[in-house]
Amino acid sequence: MGFLFGRSYVTLALMVCVLAPCQAKGALSTKFYAKTCPGVATIVRSVMARAVAKEPRMGASMIRLFFHDCFVNGCDASILLDDTPTFTGEKNAGPNVNSVRGYEVIDAIKARVEAACNATVSCADIVALASRDAVNLLGGPTWNVQLGRKDSRTASGSAANANLPGPGASAASLVAAFAAKGLSPREMTALSGAHTVGQARCLFFRDRIYTEQSINATFAAERRQTCPQTGGDGNLAPFDDQTPDAFDNAYFKNLVAQRGLLPSDQELFNGGTQDALVRKYSGNAGMFATDFAKAMVKMGGLLPSSGTPTEVRLNCRKVN
Ligand code: HEM
Ligand SMILES: *[C@@H]1O[C@H](CO)[C@@H](O)[C@H](O)[C@H]1NC(C)=O
Ligand SMILES: *[C@@H]1O[C@H](CO)[C@@H](O)[C@H](O)[C@H]1NC(C)=O
Repeated sequence: MGFLFGRSYVTLALMVCVLAPCQAKGALSTKFYAKTCPGVATIVRSVMARAVAKEPRMGASMIRLFFHDCFVNGCDASILLDDTPTFTGEKNAGPNVNSVRGYEVIDAIKARVEAACNATVSCADIVALASRDAVNLLGGPTWNVQLGRKDSRTASGSAANANLPGPGASAASLVAAFAAKGLSPREMTALSGAHTVGQARCLFFRDRIYTEQSINATFAAERRQTCPQTGGDGNLAPFDDQTPDAFDNAYFKNLVAQRGLLPSDQELFNGGTQDALVRKYSGNAGMFATDFAKAMVKMGGLLPSSGTPTEVRLNCRKVN
């Protein structure tokens, strides 16, 4: 009986695929483009290698781009859609405007991928591959990327504002924001380790360096030099001032030393539930690397809810 039921499901699935192109419905695969675009991973890696060699921060920006895509209606390249006179998407939503970067690098990758395999590889998969390469090119772990995502035909600025946690978030609200995406507190803390690379603007860490007690005094004084109490909102500081471009476990060492940059960073080591894990990651780079890679794969599995119209965009900035 069970066997027959099993077979009839398979038959049904095959029929559906004949009538309409098969869509990835939670069934991603590392081999998705093995026949249709075998060179895609090599293309992404080579464009990323050049971009990171030119500007290491671009690696950090690409990792963040993936996070901000996946947390808003799934990893569907919704963040890449440009606003138009009649459409407002995610690029100019609070967490993204003047902040998320790397769109030109995605365009450059997409151009080369289209030249090799027209209308085949989604922009969402390009972002997933590019962020994996970014981590590795900066010295972090690598992993096999699950592929087969489709691109959205819309984007939601309000969902970006609602789903992406801000720099003032408490530990409890960080846990809740990730739980809402099916990610555990441990995965939240591992993923936050991405703040071992890249930079943040003064307006996001000013409160921390002027008002918080849980901060190393030397560190606060250093940061105040380029982040005044008024003005200088856009002035940048590295998350990790010792190895700003190395994807290592320094983020956690910094937290233990009360050298977290954002208020939300130090929240993970402030007498709360994540302290023990932060301490472990600070002393065990391998454990962090393994957990981070696994959590990136899991976050990359967030997909738009079924029934959402999708496509493979030809230009990542606009719907077909
Ligand atoms: C846990 C909650 C998180 C909060 C509250 C948060 C907040 C922020 C903020 C405020 C910035 C600076 C933006 C700016 O100054 O314009 C930033 C940068 C960054 N975030 Fe997060 N973030 C979080 C989680 C993550 C995760 C999960 C990742 C990736 C896995 C990530 C990767 C990055 C990277 C790499 C940068 C630097 C980007 C660059 O230099 O261009 N963040 N984040
Ligand atoms: C790529 O595919 C699209 C849609 O199938 C088509 O309109 C376009 O002309 C193709 N471009 C090239 C260069 O083949
Ligand atoms: C703060 O960091 C400095 C290193 O820059 C260190 O020498 C000092 O001991 C730290 N202060 C405290 C209170 O941990």
